[in-house]
Amino acid sequence: MRTLTRAIAAAVAIALCACAGAERRSGMVVSTSAIASRVGADMLARGGNAVDAAVATAFALAVTHPVAGNIGGGGFLLWRNADGSADAYDFREMAPAAATPTMFVKDGAYDAALHHDSYHSVGVPGTVAGLHLAWRDHGTLPWRDLVEPAVKLARDGFIVSDGLAQSLAEILPRMQAYPASVAQFSHEGRPYAAGETLRQPDLARTLERIAREGPAGFYEGLTAELLVRDMQAHGGLITLDDLRNYHAVKRAPLRGSYRGLEVVAMPPPSSGGVALLEMLNMLEHERWTRADFGSAAAVHMQVECMRRAFRDRARHLGDPDFNPDIPVARLTSKEYARTQAQSIDRTRAGRSAPADATSAAHESEQTTHLSVVDGALNAVSLTYTLEQGYGSCIVAPGTGFLLNNEMGDFNAQPGRTDDTGLIGTKPNLAAPGKRMLSSMCPTILAKDGTLFMVTGSPGGRTIINTVLETILAVVDFGMGAQEAVDAGRFHHQWLPDRIVYEPGALSPETIAALGAMGHTLKEGRNQGVAEVIVVLHDGELDGGCDRREPDGAAVRVDALRGRRDPSPRRRRRSSSNCTM
Ligand code: DON
Repeated sequence: MRTLTRAIAAAVAIALCACAGAERRSGMVVSTSAIASRVGADMLARGGNAVDAAVATAFALAVTHPVAGNIGGGGFLLWRNADGSADAYDFREMAPAAATPTMFVKDGAYDAALHHDSYHSVGVPGTVAGLHLAWRDHGTLPWRDLVEPAVKLARDGFIVSDGLAQSLAEILPRMQAYPASVAQFSHEGRPYAAGETLRQPDLARTLERIAREGPAGFYEGLTAELLVRDMQAHGGLITLDDLRNYHAVKRAPLRGSYRGLEVVAMPPPSSGGVALLEMLNMLEHERWTRADFGSAAAVHMQVECMRRAFRDRARHLGDPDFNPDIPVARLTSKEYARTQAQSIDRTRAGRSAPADATSAAHESEQTTHLSVVDGALNAVSLTYTLEQGYGSCIVAPGTGFLLNNEMGDFNAQPGRTDDTGLIGTKPNLAAPGKRMLSSMCPTILAKDGTLFMVTGSPGGRTIINTVLETILAVVDFGMGAQEAVDAGRFHHQWLPDRIVYEPGALSPETIAALGAMGHTLKEGRNQGVAEVIVVLHDGELDGGCDRREPDGAAVRVDALRGRRDPSPRRRRRSSSNCTM
């Protein structure tokens, strides 16, 4: 499925550059679809702010990047105002009222298909409510204007890229059980070819209702009725009440620090912020230079921090509204990090034991991230998902959008914890109205009160380590945004107890040295698709779009002349081949 990610995507950075007198400021949208990033950049060019651009980009991604862009899923939006205030918007899916902790158990045994591949795997979608809540708090352009470009893209269509054609062809067999999905994403079963136009008229009509009525156009009326009708026809759990009761939540973001930088991160039900801060706190006392990048000593320390943070993730984290005692303050404290770091042997690999909590669940396969900075240096870091690529693959007839399979992020079976990857701990068991634990990790850093970095990535549990590694690459190893995004990545998640590294990410010497320390290593596939913006000393924006997505492209927009220049151009400050 990961090939889908790479095949479909166009990592895009769109820079919006405005120079007024002595002041030099840029705005930028970085997302995995060139078309969607242009939509967001157009909002900046119209005078919108980072939330306006992020909302418009997210709706456009729901059309152009169906593997993960969505209105049928959920996610997290982190907003940092240039004045330092910040809000975290939680629009994670909620379990329907009929959910139970044992809902994925059939005849006494865990049923993976129920968990991830059925109408029971669909959580109540959160994206529309979440985008609307963030817009209501911070947006400046009319709501309708932010949704309208997506309506047009769905109605009039857009040209299918090589990557999207390949991705749709690969997913088609999984869609066979759902005729409305096959109808929407193929010509009566024949896959789209690159260069053809993909029109999604049902999606256009749903988006039009959302543009006109706001969340009511999704959670009530025709959209809700169509969705529930399909649920009822197939034994699904979501009811009209579930939809009506869905609410996004504004939460206080986590705040920490790393080497004097302010770190703003996502609180539970994301595990991302807690684990990230725990790792950063443990690593803060390392003294690294550029030469240490990729060394066995540096990788070993990072891996041991990952091991501890992922153990704590499995032990403690879940929906805070159902787990009021999650020790977030303790886990993210410098004092706790000190005790954890003291347990690291610099010469020997640690050991992970399921009895310490439990191992993490399956690897998820699709999600997407976008980073936005506007001319005033307000920032949005937004990660949202359908869980796996194309989610449940279910399109309820007449709705035009894919439903998530996010219920698969709840623990599978109470008490069943083993090193095959199942978790049975209580904090993340399914329950009515509960939000499933996530690894999504939108993150924003500031330096001396001024925006410094916006980062995030897809990749299931690898997300947290990808985000960590982009931060270390910039802050510790002195890389520019593109270099940081390009740098090889590795992942350890406590259990299975092994380091998985991207091809070429670790040198043979480093691999040998880590092996001698007692680490188990495995070469894996590409890890994550990070979208990064760094604010340079002079206020210029340095963008990193992830070339792990081969269709990567970038477009510069001249704000003063209101003109986008689609011609390839090398970025001034980075070694990127992403054009800006
Ligand atoms: O919320 C989560 O952590 C997962 N559902 C995210 C899945 C994901 O990132 C897959 N991406 N490649």
